[in-house]
Amino acid sequence: MIVNELITGYLASLAHDLPPELEKLKEKAGKEQVPIIRDDMLEFMRFLLLKEKPKTILEIGTAVGFSALFMKSVLPEANITTVEKVEMRLKEARKNLDGSGIRLIEGGAETVLRDLDGPFDMIFLDAAKGQYGKFWTECKRLLNKGGLMLTDNVLLEGSIAKSRFGVERRDRTIHERMRAFLREITHTEGYVTVILPVGDGVALTYKNNT
Ligand SMILES: C[S@@+](CC[C@H](N)C(=O)[O-])C[C@H]1O[C@@H](n2cnc3c(N)ncnc32)[C@H](O)[C@@H]1O
Repeated sequence: MIVNELITGYLASLAHDLPPELEKLKEKAGKEQVPIIRDDMLEFMRFLLLKEKPKTILEIGTAVGFSALFMKSVLPEANITTVEKVEMRLKEARKNLDGSGIRLIEGGAETVLRDLDGPFDMIFLDAAKGQYGKFWTECKRLLNKGGLMLTDNVLLEGSIAKSRFGVERRDRTIHERMRAFLREITHTEGYVTVILPVGDGVALTYKNNT
């Protein structure tokens, strides 16, 4: 938790209810320890979706389809594509997304993205944290001018701020890669990025029109 629990708890009391079927899916994901988008990130995303009204959305990291279905519930008209590579997750995602109108692409984003045609008005990057840097080149190509990329979990439960030696040895590669990725997205010409302590940290990247 990177934000004081008291504050997070208070903000949660202002949050909107989820549609019942999404509430059920969230509960199931919690029981089965499927990592899904956190409540404060949902509220933030709802705001962005309603403000920006993206017509096309690409999600990298479907898990069981919860966040994709959430986006669809907020913006039923949006054209949503989501990518997942792990069979155990795909089994559930196929069922959950069936009939939703959401396009599920099965495969590793490292290859899927290369073959994908954009542009997308919004990209939600929520896959393996150590791989974000690898996806950046394709995300730049796929993002529409004026489009937004949201990258979740960038603050690594706060450990991103520690020095390399302050993090567990096994977490050092992710720590190093995430820092390199954040450096890159905050310093790429033509893009504007802000990093916010929402959920486990979200980077919001805007592709400048100019
Ligand atoms: C945090 S979960 C996504 C949660 C989902 N966005 C939600 O909030 O409901 C990350 C997912 O990304 C998938 N993933 C990780 N690396 C991937 C890759 N290279 N290509 C496609 N999917 C990947 C994992 O299998 C996992 O299901």
